[in-house]
Amino acid sequence: MESSSSGSCVQGTVYHWIVLFAVWLCGSQHVLSQKTTLEPKDKFLLSDPPIGLFDPIEISPSVLPHNPNPVEPLSPMYPNYTSYDPVLTGKCHVNFSALSYTIDKTASDCSIPLAPLVADVICCPQVNSLMNIFQAAYGSGNDTLALNQASANACFSDIMSILASKGANTNIPELCTLRPSNLTDAACPVKDIASFEKIVNVSKLIDACSSVDPLKECCRPVCQPAIAEAAIHISSGGANMFGSSSIPGSVAGIDVVSDCKGVVHSWLSMKLSSEEANSAFRVLSGCKVNKVCPLEFDEPSSVVKACAKASSSTPSCCAALHSYIGTRQKQIFVTNLQAINCATMFGSMLQKAGVVEDIYGLCDIDLKDFSLQAFGQQGCLLRSLPTDIEFDNTTGISFTCDLSDNIAAPWPSSSSVQSLSLCAPEMSLPALPVSPKSGSSGTSRTGIGVLLPLVFLTTTISI
Ligand SMILES: *[C@@H]1O[C@H](CO)[C@@H](O)[C@H](O)[C@H]1NC(C)=O
Ligand SMILES: *[C@@H]1O[C@H](CO)[C@@H](O)[C@H](O)[C@H]1NC(C)=O
Ligand SMILES: *[C@@H]1O[C@H](CO)[C@@H](O)[C@H](O)[C@H]1NC(C)=O
Ligand SMILES: *[C@@H]1O[C@H](CO)[C@@H](O)[C@H](O)[C@H]1NC(C)=O
Ligand SMILES: *[C@@H]1O[C@H](CO)[C@@H](O)[C@H](O)[C@H]1NC(C)=O
Ligand SMILES: *[C@@H]1O[C@H](CO)[C@@H](O)[C@H](O)[C@H]1NC(C)=O
Repeated sequence: MESSSSGSCVQGTVYHWIVLFAVWLCGSQHVLSQKTTLEPKDKFLLSDPPIGLFDPIEISPSVLPHNPNPVEPLSPMYPNYTSYDPVLTGKCHVNFSALSYTIDKTASDCSIPLAPLVADVICCPQVNSLMNIFQAAYGSGNDTLALNQASANACFSDIMSILASKGANTNIPELCTLRPSNLTDAACPVKDIASFEKIVNVSKLIDACSSVDPLKECCRPVCQPAIAEAAIHISSGGANMFGSSSIPGSVAGIDVVSDCKGVVHSWLSMKLSSEEANSAFRVLSGCKVNKVCPLEFDEPSSVVKACAKASSSTPSCCAALHSYIGTRQKQIFVTNLQAINCATMFGSMLQKAGVVEDIYGLCDIDLKDFSLQAFGQQGCLLRSLPTDIEFDNTTGISFTCDLSDNIAAPWPSSSSVQSLSLCAPEMSLPALPVSPKSGSSGTSRTGIGVLLPLVFLTTTISI
């Protein structure tokens, strides 16, 4: 129902697909080399009908996904871990079963094989949300909004053990730059609920954040400024508590406000249901995630050399461009908006260095070229709205790709830069992301399959 109505109200150039991954894990310690030659029969498959047609990004004439080799579905990926009872420290006094909704979601979003590939876009935003919700659960019986260091150490360890027991990557602290101290918000002077509610206009905060609109929050933020305002209030409200301890000004100030934001998040988690809080935090993270290009483009001198001269030959220019982009994309999944940011950023670098022609167009560079590549010809861009990894025992592990990745990368120009205001397009997203589950249980799907060949994963699953 949901998928068919959203499908019919938006004339789509963009397809959402459920992507089922059969991921091959190799024990090797290397990060995968994208030049790995693969037998087509090793493919990593992916095939399932589209679950809706949306039109999230309106750039340039759309190009329908070319789908050269529809194949019959292969068996989906089933995680081969078995969950077990974690060994806990016994020093973290929290009813973890009350947090199972958030913990289960986090474990699947950070599942062993996929966590490194989706760290910034799926796993870490969800882990951060869990941290906030955990802090609130811990504190609610104790009039506090953050943990002391000793409890934080124990609880952090317990949380990681529980996640690992449910199949999450054990590398989360490194992937997400997370430490026990993230649970303490040590620098914020206000941590007890009573003082918090005295200082902060709580009704205003609740109004702004109780239901965060995923379509508007990134462009016309309502909750984010309310959180910032509350954080600034409590950070100065307790300023005198620093007494004479002379922490140098600006750096400490940033820490204080940032830790106070953690306290505000914790308070919100206490007031909202786990589901509401989780989805609010994921939207807020999504706004941050989509603003940046996660790839680093160092001096593209090889491309400039091959492409800057009017006399340069197209094949050598395109070869240089493809090879450069191939080495930049870091075998991570990016969102469609991140890919646009990357294309724009890199294009501007090239223009500054003297490349005048639209070499994206000349060389058929698509947005998906900035994402993890499978077989060098297909990619998967995640949607800009928060996405989760889904697991069920009939479809295996899946997440939703946005096959707008076959649209051409926009070459920056004065006019396209203007139309690339990332807000306007965000507005055209469907009001509710269709969950892969509801999509797959629907009856109105058309049977188009897409093949994403094997991503040969040689993940570094460390310690
Ligand atoms: C899971 O897969 C990995 C890599 O293929 C293998 O080393 C491990 O033994 C498997 N575990 C189970 C429980 O099958
Ligand atoms: C822990 O939480 C669960 C679910 O909310 C509840 O059923 C259970 O009684 C709680 N256990 C304790 C010891 O409070
Ligand atoms: C409750 O707070 C007190 C004082 O802040 C602290 O000493 C105690 O350990 C806390 N209790 C729990 C269960 O964290
Ligand atoms: C956790 O703490 C580290 C260092 O203390 C910081 O860099 C990181 O941003 C924090 N993470 C979150 C989600 O606050
Ligand atoms: C709290 O904020 C609301 C606006 O959202 C305002 O009407 C109200 O007066 C504020 N309360 C206090 C005590 O400042
Ligand atoms: C799938 O999971 C459900 C509940 O977790 C279980 O009852 C069912 O037997 C499972 N099906 C298969 C095919 O494993």
